[in-house]
Amino acid sequence: MRQTIRAQGPQSFAWFMQQALYHPEHGYYSSGRCQIGRKGDYFTNVSIGPLFGQLLAAQFSEIWVCLGKINDFVLVEQGAHDGQFARDVLDFVKENLPDFFAALRYRIIEPFPTLERRQRQALESFRGKVEWGESLQPFTGVHFSNELLDAMPVRLIHRGMEKLVALDKDKFVFVERLYDEESHNQPALDWIDEIAANLQRGYIVAIDYGRTDKDFQRSIQVRARHRNLQSPFDSIGEADITMSVDWKSIVQHAQANGLRVAGLTDQHHFLTGILSQFESGDLGQSFLTDSRKAKRELQTLLHPEMLGRAFQVLTLAKNVDVNAPPLAGFKFARQLDYSVASYERMKRGTSST
Ligand SMILES: C[S@@+](CC[C@H](N)C(=O)[O-])C[C@H]1O[C@@H](n2cnc3c(N)ncnc32)[C@H](O)[C@@H]1O
Repeated sequence: MRQTIRAQGPQSFAWFMQQALYHPEHGYYSSGRCQIGRKGDYFTNVSIGPLFGQLLAAQFSEIWVCLGKINDFVLVEQGAHDGQFARDVLDFVKENLPDFFAALRYRIIEPFPTLERRQRQALESFRGKVEWGESLQPFTGVHFSNELLDAMPVRLIHRGMEKLVALDKDKFVFVERLYDEESHNQPALDWIDEIAANLQRGYIVAIDYGRTDKDFQRSIQVRARHRNLQSPFDSIGEADITMSVDWKSIVQHAQANGLRVAGLTDQHHFLTGILSQFESGDLGQSFLTDSRKAKRELQTLLHPEMLGRAFQVLTLAKNVDVNAPPLAGFKFARQLDYSVASYERMKRGTSST
């Protein structure tokens, strides 16, 4: 990194993030150094326990029914990390929803060989049901991701200025220059383009922590061993670097690509909707069983001061009947404001020159 900055001058924060997280040898994710969960650097919904995957599995099965119980329903996951979410979903579907299990193919999009190896190990018992690829192929079904978007490189822009990464002797420092009006989150927008081009019919379900106001770039989060580090220049390649997702620009771009917003709400309302839809039938018993552990998991996922409000769920639809009833997760949804008009006003007021 130092060599590039010395040779070419200050670089965008997006470039720095790409190197720190995804450099083939030294990147935090690509090297396989990242560990999630109690013994790792941070928790995610998935690492709390299997309940998250079970609830999402119920939502996916409702989507399968809504698409007419098609034979070749593909569930695509991106950012599958160690394969835990896929295992939670497949265990639950196999046990409780045999018809859906028979129609389902699980496809993981994984660019990093070391993570693919871990996933193959975790999913050994589902050999034949799961396939891997480096890029998306045309599919009908669902594209799912949890905390993928917040790990995508972003530029740091505020009040018409961009923060770049430079060197002061050997130390990384920020310098500022005038912002050139290009997108601050181009990789996320390219990602939407790619899914929109490959999804034939179905839904995109993206769960992440983000904002729908102008403060999405309020702070860079740098996490290692469950502690927040002061600066992205501490422990490079050993720590996670994330930024709140800017939901509005993603929605705006998705709509321009022919995708329809099926809902944007917080995780609390989304998971409560799923639970209430299925609690009266057999599935309800499978979720909460009698275990205290499952109840603790539920509290962590739902509580507004734990993960319930920090995380949001964006669901986009393509070629699905607009008059179809809302998905279970949006039954009680507190719809978050993603209107483009307010977004344009917000951008004019802050980040444009
Ligand atoms: C914050 S972790 C979340 C992991 C997991 N979804 C969870 O919730 O525990 C982000 C994951 O996204 C992966 N990732 C980043 N960019 C990716 C891409 N373009 N395609 C697939 N995975 C990607 C990283 O390797 C990492 O495993």
